[in-house]
Amino acid sequence: MPKIPSYHLFPTAETASKTLAAEIGELVSSRAAAGQSAVLGLATGSTPIPLYEELVCLHRKGLSFANVTTFNLDEYLGLERKHKESYWHFMHTHLFDHINIPPGNIYIPDGTIADENLQGHCLDFENAIVRAGGIDLQVLGIGRNGHIGFNEPGASPEVRTHVTSLNKVTIADAAESFDGPQNVPARAITMGVGTILDARRVVLLAFGGSKAGIVNRALTPGITSEVPATYLQLHDNVSFFVDTDAGAAIEASSPPE
Ligand code: F6R
Repeated sequence: MPKIPSYHLFPTAETASKTLAAEIGELVSSRAAAGQSAVLGLATGSTPIPLYEELVCLHRKGLSFANVTTFNLDEYLGLERKHKESYWHFMHTHLFDHINIPPGNIYIPDGTIADENLQGHCLDFENAIVRAGGIDLQVLGIGRNGHIGFNEPGASPEVRTHVTSLNKVTIADAAESFDGPQNVPARAITMGVGTILDARRVVLLAFGGSKAGIVNRALTPGITSEVPATYLQLHDNVSFFVDTDAGAAIEASSPPE
């Protein structure tokens, strides 16, 4: 039975991010106390930056990430790790360089893999998630076109980690950081919708007025491949954490939690 994700309205991106960071901190420390690991699915982009700042703060206050394994949603194809727009670079700059996660526990799709090895690489990524015990909590952002990860409009719900072509809205949104649309990589590796839906819990963050329309659509009954975020209605443990601007157009009949 499809289920509309619950949504939580926060006055600012910072308050939403602090709430999610506290939830992640709880998960990580309770698992550590039980001698277990915690597996996080992570996103890049502007949205999770305040979350990563807060996780770094929690680490400075004593939270250990020694028992954490992470899987990033996606990576541009054709970018070296050290390229300033690679997601490898983003994640190390904003999070991994500032916490004590063991480097061997960090999984980010490799954007430098040759075409003939891509299929194997995607399979290895999926297998690593299974070996880690599955993702406990997946953090998502949302594209203005409704993409999650780089599952663009038209994506199917069963698909696993794969190579995809970026949609024109996605390229336009990335154009500024790449100094022009012609420099944005045309392809990326992304976890599939199926991979995302296998996470035990999903929290989608959305901040700012440019996300208001798509947030409302994702929270409106009706699953369509044209808005991949509507596939989250197939999962029974999804929360949207939105700030006032991103939540401004929500018409959902259920009140915020
Ligand atoms: C990034 C990702 C994308 C972004 C989305 C929103 O790893 O998977 O789906 O979450 O494009 O990007 P921002 O946060 O820059 O608006």
